[in-house]
Amino acid sequence: MRVFIILPAAGIGTRMAAAGAAAPKQFLELGGEPILIHSLKAFAGVPAVTQILVAVRPQEMERVHQQIEAAGLGSRIRVVEGGENRQGSVANALAALDCADDDIVLVHDAVRPLIDGATIERTISAVQKHGAAIVGVPAIDTIKQVERTAEGAIITSTIPRERIVLAQTPQGATAGRMKKAFAEAEADGFAGTDEASLLERAGMEVAVVAGSPRNFKITQPGDLELAEFYLEH
Ligand code: C5P
Repeated sequence: MRVFIILPAAGIGTRMAAAGAAAPKQFLELGGEPILIHSLKAFAGVPAVTQILVAVRPQEMERVHQQIEAAGLGSRIRVVEGGENRQGSVANALAALDCADDDIVLVHDAVRPLIDGATIERTISAVQKHGAAIVGVPAIDTIKQVERTAEGAIITSTIPRERIVLAQTPQGATAGRMKKAFAEAEADGFAGTDEASLLERAGMEVAVVAGSPRNFKITQPGDLELAEFYLEH
């Protein structure tokens, strides 16, 4: 069994850019290194990982190659072209994978740089055991279902908190399952915001591994300060 990692890193960081950030968020520096490099190092540090594919925009390929070299990473990392949205970027990387159906594929948001090796290893074990698994954290706030209105929203129901998990990444499955789920989504024109939604709709059981608040997705201004804090503590 081999383990392949896909890091979608082809976003343009609309929310950060709106707040004046100069670079897409995966290239902003955290503790003196680009966010993407932190994410890459976490996976490169796991011995079970065979190869890591990073999906980036064509105009950023050169910069990413340089960053990977400067960080002393390289041998197990491939840079591929991303797509129009996150799902498209992952689909491109999946298509570039040279793997067997029973190999494991994990997908991780490049902008979750504080993922740790132990969580990655637990996700790999859960995929081996269940066929598919993601990292998730319990909901702390009470979750409401709403209907959007012109002024905001009106609550239609309250979802019992103990039945809620907030999905993080990595999200993975055997390569055969992942490819089948992506092929079905594409055939149906289904766009999801994570891999689990594609695996679920393909009728596959997806297990949840406990994550941590540290593994949050850097999205808006202020998130970088929180990530710096976590990095130091
Ligand atoms: O947009 P969001 O913050 O959910 O992005 C999650 C991850 O997907 C980021 O690492 C981002 O770079 C990546 N992405 C991508 N290709 C796109 C859009 C987003 O690889 N076209």
